[in-house]
Amino acid sequence: MPDHRETALIKAAEYREKQAPLILGIESSCDETAASVVRAGREVLSASVHTQIPVHRLYGGVVPEIASRSHTERIGSVVRDALDKAGVTLEEIDAIAVTYRPGLIGALLVGVSYAKGLAFAAQKPLVGVDHITGHIAANYITYPELEPPFMCIVASGGHSHIVRVDGYTDFTLIGRTRDDAAGEAFDKVARAMGLPYPGGPELEKLARGGDPEAFRLHTAFNEGEGFDFSFSGIKTAVVNILHNAEQKGEEVNRADLAASFQRAVTDALTIKSVRAAREYGLGTLALAGGVSANTALRDRLQRECERYGIRFCRPDMRYCTDNAAMIACQGHYEIMAHDPSPLSIDPNAASFLQMM
Ligand code: KG4
Ligand code: ZN
Repeated sequence: MPDHRETALIKAAEYREKQAPLILGIESSCDETAASVVRAGREVLSASVHTQIPVHRLYGGVVPEIASRSHTERIGSVVRDALDKAGVTLEEIDAIAVTYRPGLIGALLVGVSYAKGLAFAAQKPLVGVDHITGHIAANYITYPELEPPFMCIVASGGHSHIVRVDGYTDFTLIGRTRDDAAGEAFDKVARAMGLPYPGGPELEKLARGGDPEAFRLHTAFNEGEGFDFSFSGIKTAVVNILHNAEQKGEEVNRADLAASFQRAVTDALTIKSVRAAREYGLGTLALAGGVSANTALRDRLQRECERYGIRFCRPDMRYCTDNAAMIACQGHYEIMAHDPSPLSIDPNAASFLQMM
């Protein structure tokens, strides 16, 4: 068997020369086992996902050990399904991209180990992808002509960051949450309201019938100078309203409270990210991460961007939450710009943004 590193470097160079290279993406950072085949970085040939949500719902949140075990059980069939749906063989794949950070370490380990095994056995270049950069890349799938530079607001279960996308593999951190991530706040508030996991989409449904002006939950910090956010104060305010009402034996209008919470979070994300785009002179603002599936946030950002003549981009609904097409897409740009990853690459619980 030839040395893998040498072959990987040669095949990565061939990848860059090809007209329509094929990349297989693998994602297992949290509670979705996913695989996807993408052509020339932007054309999705297949996107297979096995979600573990029904299992974790029984416990009210993701149970890491159950997640790892389920990834182990499913990863082989999900990868096979993605190859079959794309109508290609493993031999025809030109490179393999895998999420190696951030996420649950045991869950990441399953995808990374599987991708390493596949890359070694099939003698393909391997590229480790940061999950957050994958979420940003989901926009390239929806907007085939989108190119950096642009401003991006990343809002997921673990992250809320304003990132300047200077190039496909070049990012500058502009702002971040000082405490909870936006998705985390959605999930915790939903839980306090007795809604099932994952709370974000459930809370959005409840908020549809509510008055967003009923409770004023905005904080001075989120409306002030700078580009950092804070969501834990808004979350605590909601919990206190529920608690006080319960103690007094009063009924709270849950739809109004959900709508008011959603309004406070979407206002903060919108105000700061649009201001960041304007202050840095960027004509495009993109939205990324699981919370990008929130229609109120999409609409609010769209309106605010229109007001300032900024182009607003957000991924198609199916690429908002965790998927492997976005990992394959970012993997393409990583391999275009850098040497492939060594087979010794290790999973890491933290994102590069947390290290900035
Ligand atoms: O990106 P993602 O799928 O996983 C992480 O990388 O964290 O994001 C999941 C997060 C969860 O917190 C979930 O509640 C939130 O995104 N989310 C939503 C919506 N859909 C997913 N939050 C608000 N509204 C939604 N429609
Ligand atoms: Zn994610």
